[in-house]
Amino acid sequence: MSKTIGILTAGGDSPGLNAAIRGVGKTAIGAYDMRVIGFRDGFRGLMENRAIDLDKSQLSGILTIGGTILGTSRDKPHRMLVGGQTLDMTEVIVENYQNHHLDALVCLGGGGTQKNAFRLSKKGLNVVTLPKTIDNDVFGTDMTFGFDTALGIATEAIDRLHSTAHSHHRIIIVEVMGHNAGWLALGAGVAGGADVILIPEIPYDIDAVAEAIRQRHRRGASFSIVAVSEGAVPRERAEALGVAEAELAAAKKAKKSGAGADQDIAAARARIDAIHGHHGSDTLALSEELERRTNLESRVTILGHLQRGGTPSAADRLLATRLGAATVEVINEGRFGVMVASRGEAAVPVPLKDIVGKRKSVPLDHPWIETARSIGTALGD
Ligand code: F6P
Repeated sequence: MSKTIGILTAGGDSPGLNAAIRGVGKTAIGAYDMRVIGFRDGFRGLMENRAIDLDKSQLSGILTIGGTILGTSRDKPHRMLVGGQTLDMTEVIVENYQNHHLDALVCLGGGGTQKNAFRLSKKGLNVVTLPKTIDNDVFGTDMTFGFDTALGIATEAIDRLHSTAHSHHRIIIVEVMGHNAGWLALGAGVAGGADVILIPEIPYDIDAVAEAIRQRHRRGASFSIVAVSEGAVPRERAEALGVAEAELAAAKKAKKSGAGADQDIAAARARIDAIHGHHGSDTLALSEELERRTNLESRVTILGHLQRGGTPSAADRLLATRLGAATVEVINEGRFGVMVASRGEAAVPVPLKDIVGKRKSVPLDHPWIETARSIGTALGD
């Protein structure tokens, strides 16, 4: 056997993970005669040495299955809860990597995983990552796997909500996941024909939302569908967000110049998360406020984790398989500390140092935004 590679899935699960594991595994075993070791539950499994040999039989029949056969967790190597204490377990992870004689470690995950993998690569591990998340917010790749499936689920939900909204002459507000990026709500909102779409990148003005619905009513439409991203913020809170983001940028700059500490960055991040983290209650408040301002009945549907479950779409399977297979070629060429990104039809290794800490938000001049505006969809501004 030529090389031994490890593989793990970290962060929130997303459809297409098994397709990617299969793409990596089949290529590694079949085309390069490599040994593949899977680690359970993300970085925790690597720390606890919970490993399984992945052979051809384990990689067979998993393409269409949702979730991840390896399990996942949001544990970070440098801040792991062990015996009731938060500890830096990086050294244990490095030891386990060495004890397994790994030539490379493949980490499948979103933005957080890219960061954690980058930390490990700085400790000398040969790390290659793949971009997965339903949020599509990983910097440096055109697309993440999981997004297309979630987009389909959210779009179908909006389709189905139309008939009941129409029958009862109601406003229906559907909350879509996406963390602090609006790709999912915007994509599903446009594809599903939502009348109002609210995303984190465009702080919303409740007066503008209510007026858009009243206008529809005056024109004879007896119902309205509002697609709201879980990270969307009312305009009043956007100012606080701007301040917190400026603090984060300053903390990062200070850290780079040697004057700042990791804690300042973490604190600024926590402030941003707290501002965004009102979803659910914000959506309920939006519903009550719209009812009050329009005199129309309003209902809320929170799609939540439904969007992450079940069979991956054909596009996600294709993307995950394509990137998975390309990952092994990247390993074989000895290129490490990279994420295998999707760029058009190509799979491109992008240095992790160029992407970590960055988020791919929806640009305000993105064609999906322009399209929404062209067809008269209100964006709350
Ligand atoms: O990052 C994927 C995602 O599903 C986000 O859209 C959402 O904000 C978050 O994960 C939910 O996390 P958890 O699975 O920990 O509830």
